[in-house]
Amino acid sequence: MEIEVENIKFLDLIKEAKSVSDLEEIRVSLLGKKGEITNLLRSLGQMEAEERQIKSPQYNKLKQILEEAFKESREMLLNKEIEARMDSEWLDISQDPREISSGLIHPVSRVTEEIVSIFSDLGFSVAEGPQIESDWYNFDSLNIPPDHPARQEFDTFYIKPDDKGLKGNISPNVLRTHTSPVQVRFMEKHGAPCRIIAPGRVYRSDYDLTHTPMFHQIEGLAIGEDISMSNLKWVLIEFCKAYFELDSIDLRFRASHFPFTEPSAEVDIRCSWVGNSLVVGKGNDWMEILGSGMVHPNVLEAAKVDSKKFQGFAFGMGIDRLAMLKYGMPDLRSFFDNDMRWLKHYGFAAERSSNLYDKLSG
Ligand code: DAH
Repeated sequence: MEIEVENIKFLDLIKEAKSVSDLEEIRVSLLGKKGEITNLLRSLGQMEAEERQIKSPQYNKLKQILEEAFKESREMLLNKEIEARMDSEWLDISQDPREISSGLIHPVSRVTEEIVSIFSDLGFSVAEGPQIESDWYNFDSLNIPPDHPARQEFDTFYIKPDDKGLKGNISPNVLRTHTSPVQVRFMEKHGAPCRIIAPGRVYRSDYDLTHTPMFHQIEGLAIGEDISMSNLKWVLIEFCKAYFELDSIDLRFRASHFPFTEPSAEVDIRCSWVGNSLVVGKGNDWMEILGSGMVHPNVLEAAKVDSKKFQGFAFGMGIDRLAMLKYGMPDLRSFFDNDMRWLKHYGFAAERSSNLYDKLSG
């Protein structure tokens, strides 16, 4: 073997490598376990001593030259690869960042969460009911029989019955006009005593500055053997103080009438107008915020609760209305317009909003 010639042949091979991985393949083919050079060195063992004396330094020199050539070539190829990456993967650090669009919490969700959280602290748990409701739960069970004038007051959306396959006089379903039917559904299923609030969507055919066909109510119910109107009063005062973030608050319980409560009271909160904005807690005006009363025995009986043994209070209030009062939105209709400008202005950042879901699932 003419070592100089071989030398050049191998060095050319190394020069041809286009990448570090190419080079590694060549290295293995020469210097790896079964590589050409490794075999040469191995062949020394079979040689006569004389020949070995001549060949051994030549082979070892060849190996050394190749190892150095590999090292050099490897460094060069690595640098080339890095340069090529730097050319292709450059980063324009002066470019404007991409806008991060993060959602906001809708005021209705936020206020629902605030209300749920306050009543949770007062020992109420959350209950839910269907939005499509039978007229029995929505009216009859709440002591509003079919000919009762209160049915007209509700501007009810009736769901057209599917007459295919129906026999006889099946009572129609409605979009629930209030959250009160959840009272009956809950007591029927869980009995008494109980203490719940039921937030949710309700529907009435009505549309102006303060009315939309879909809006939100929250119902409260506390039933026990020894519950009175004074408990109702205390709960509502505590709620209003916490919700409006005031140390003390004036509420006015005004005698009223609801078929499902006896006695009934509408509750007003002291307030005043400064220019166009409403200040809650101070002044000489009163603003109605909810309806309430002692649950009518007929309602308890409809829910299969013994009205001789149990009694309690109930109340219902508009969530959207409470949001308007606290956060100063003038027009209820804009709540449901999905206008991004409105949502950005009145929406809430998401950090504090895990509460309701913890409570609903907990
Ligand atoms: N359901 C009534 C409404 O939608 C509100 C209401 C009044 C609920 C008195 C009650 C109550 O539980 O006791 O107008």
